Amino acid sequence: MNTYGLILAGGKGTRMNDSLPKVAQKILGKEFINYVYDALDLAGIEKIYPIVGYKRDIVLACRDFENYFVQEKQLGTGHAVQMAYENLYDKEGLCVVIAGDQPLITSESLKELIRVHKKNENHLTLLTAISPDPYGYGRIVRDGNEVIKIVEEKDATEKEKLIDEVNISTFCFDNKLLFKFIKELRNENKQKELYLTDVLSIFKREHLKVEAVSALTYEETIGISDKSDLEKATTFLRTKINQKHMINGVSIIDSSNTYIGPDVNIGSGTIIYPGSVLEGKVTIGENCLIQASYIYDSSLGNNVTVGPFAHIRQNCVLGNDIRIGNFVEIKKSTLDDGVKSAHLTYLGDSEIAKNVNIGCGTITVNYDGKNKHKTIIEEGAFIGSNANLIAPITIGKNSKIAAGSTITKDVPNDSLAIARERETIKKDYYKK
Ligand code: UD1
Ligand code: MG
Repeated sequence: MNTYGLILAGGKGTRMNDSLPKVAQKILGKEFINYVYDALDLAGIEKIYPIVGYKRDIVLACRDFENYFVQEKQLGTGHAVQMAYENLYDKEGLCVVIAGDQPLITSESLKELIRVHKKNENHLTLLTAISPDPYGYGRIVRDGNEVIKIVEEKDATEKEKLIDEVNISTFCFDNKLLFKFIKELRNENKQKELYLTDVLSIFKREHLKVEAVSALTYEETIGISDKSDLEKATTFLRTKINQKHMINGVSIIDSSNTYIGPDVNIGSGTIIYPGSVLEGKVTIGENCLIQASYIYDSSLGNNVTVGPFAHIRQNCVLGNDIRIGNFVEIKKSTLDDGVKSAHLTYLGDSEIAKNVNIGCGTITVNYDGKNKHKTIIEEGAFIGSNANLIAPITIGKNSKIAAGSTITKDVPNDSLAIARERETIKKDYYKK
C-alpha cells in the first residue's frame, strides 16, 4: 500500500515570540520538523512531504526533503492540505497528516494509529489525548463511543468546553477520500479558517468509517505554543533520553545538567559529567569519559577521554584510546587510535594518524580567508608545543616539529623541522 505523510509546517508560531518559524525551533539540537519527520519515517511512511509557508527557506533548510508543498497564505490547516491536491488526489493508499509542532510524538503511537486504521478498514483514524488542561485544543465530540465531530475552542459551546478528550492533529486518512472532500471545506467559523478537522464531519455525513484511538502516552501529545512549553518539552525529553542511556550502562553524574539529543548512541561504561552537550548524530564508544564538553555530529571510539571544556564538531571521527584535553577544538577531522591532544589546541580539516602527539597550543591553520585546506599528520609524529601548521601541509611519519615553529613546507618522514628565530642572549645586558 502507498503511504504518504503530510507535515503541517506553514505557520509562524506567533506565541514563540521570535523570528524563527515554529517548526524550525529546536529541542536538544534537533528541529521540531525533524522529530516529526523521523517519527513518520520510523512508522513506515514512505513519502513524507512538509507543507511550508512562513519563512519557508528556513524550514526547508532543516533537511533534504524529497518534495514539499507551498502554502503562500496561512488560511488554516485544511487549506494547508489543499496545497497537496494536484500531486496526491488520485493516489491510492493512506495519508498521515500531522502537525509539525508536536515533536514529542512517538513512532510507536503512529504505528498503532496505522495498524488500527488498516485492521478496521477505517477511512479516517485519528489520535487523541485526554488532557488535564484541554484549553485551546479542538475537542473530540462523541455520541456514546462514536466520534461525531471536532470542535475548536473558539467555536465550542460551554458544554463542549468541558470535554477533556482533545485533537492532537494526527490523522490517518484514506488518501483518495481525503482529497475527494478536502475542497468542500468552508471557513464558516470564528477564525474564518479552513479547518482540517471539519473533514471528519464530512466523512460522517458520507457514512464513512471514522475511529479515534488514544496516543500511547500523554506527554508525547503536547503541542508547543510558547517558550515555556518548549522548556517543559526539553525537560521531559532530556529525562527520557538520559534514562535510556543509564539503563544501557552509561553513568550520567547529574542528569539535570546533561543534554543529550535523540540521535546519540553511547556505549556502556562511559561516564558523562555535568555540563556536557551531545547533539546531532553522535556515537560514543565504551568506557569513555566526557567532562563538561560539547560534541556534535561526530563519532568517538572506545576509551576516549574528552575535556573538561573541549569542543568536537562537524563530522569528526575519532578512533580508540584517544585523549582530548581542556580547551581543544576539533572540526571535520579524523584522529586515529592513540592520538593525544591534551591542551589548548585547534585541529580543523585534519587527518591525524595513529599515536600522534599534539603539543599544547598547536594550531592547524586551515583557512586562508577564502578556502579551507587540509593538514595531514602521519603515524607517530610529534608536534611540539605552540606550533602553527599552515595548511595544506603534510607532516611525515615519526617526524618532530620543534616547539614554537610555524611550518609552511611539507616535512618528510623521520625528520626534525624547526622554524623559529634562534635565541640570542645579551649577557649582562641589565647590569650596565
Ligand atoms: C489545531 C487544531 C486543533 C488541535 C490543535 C493541536 C485545526 C482547525 N485545529 O489548532 O483541533 O487541537 O491544532 O493539535 O486544525 N498550519 C499551517 N497552515 C495554516 C495553519 C496552520 O501549516 O494555515 C500548521 C502550523 O504550522 C502548525 C499546525 O498546522 O504546525 C497546527 O496549527 P496551529 O495554528 O497550531 O493550530 P491550532 O490552532 O493549535
Ligand atoms: Mg497549535
